[in-house]
Amino acid sequence: MDNICDFSHAFLHRKYQPFIDAKLTHHEADDDRVYLTYDTYMAGGRISGIFVDRNRVNTRSIELCYQYPYQWTNTGDSIKNWSFMLPIDEKTTRVFFLFYFDALTIPLLSIKTPKWLTQFVLNLAKPLVFKPILEEDGVALEAEMLAYESYWDAPPIELNPVVPMFQRLTARKWEEHLTRNQNTELSEVS
Ligand SMILES: [Fe+2]
Repeated sequence: MDNICDFSHAFLHRKYQPFIDAKLTHHEADDDRVYLTYDTYMAGGRISGIFVDRNRVNTRSIELCYQYPYQWTNTGDSIKNWSFMLPIDEKTTRVFFLFYFDALTIPLLSIKTPKWLTQFVLNLAKPLVFKPILEEDGVALEAEMLAYESYWDAPPIELNPVVPMFQRLTARKWEEHLTRNQNTELSEVS
C-alpha cells in the first residue's frame, strides 16, 4: 500500500516512466481512508504514453486513496485503477490490480478507440508495460521486507510524509480487529 500510493519512487520505474516529477499537492486522513493528490506527468514512457489522449484527458494530476482495505486511483476520470490485497501468510501478500481506461487514442489520427480496440491494446500492454512495472515494485518490496527483518528497529528513511499515514491506518485496523476478537472471546466466556 505504501508503494502504490507513494510517487516518490519514480527512479525505480525510470525505464517505463508511469509517472514523472510527482509533487504531493494534498493529503488528508480519517478513520477509514487516506486520500492524496499529486501533480505529475502520467504515462510518460515511450510505450505507455503513445495511446494516452492528452488533449482529452488531464494527465497532469492524479487522485489516490487508500480506502481500507482497498486502494484506488483516478486520472482525469478516464484512467482508473483498483488494487486488492489477499494475505497468504505472515510474509506473503497477493495483490490484484484492476485497470480501467475509458478509451485510448490512435497515434497520429487522434481518434478515440472503440471499446473492443481499447481492450485489444490493453491486452497487448499487459505483458509489455503493466506487468514489468508491477514486477519492479515486487522486487523493491521484497528487498524492503528483507531489510526490515534485519533492521526493524532502525529509524525509517521516508521521503513522503503520507507514508506514515498508510502505516497508521493499517496498524489501527489491525488493532481494532484484535480488540473486536478479544471482546467476542470475553462475551463467549461470560
Ligand atoms: Fe511502483
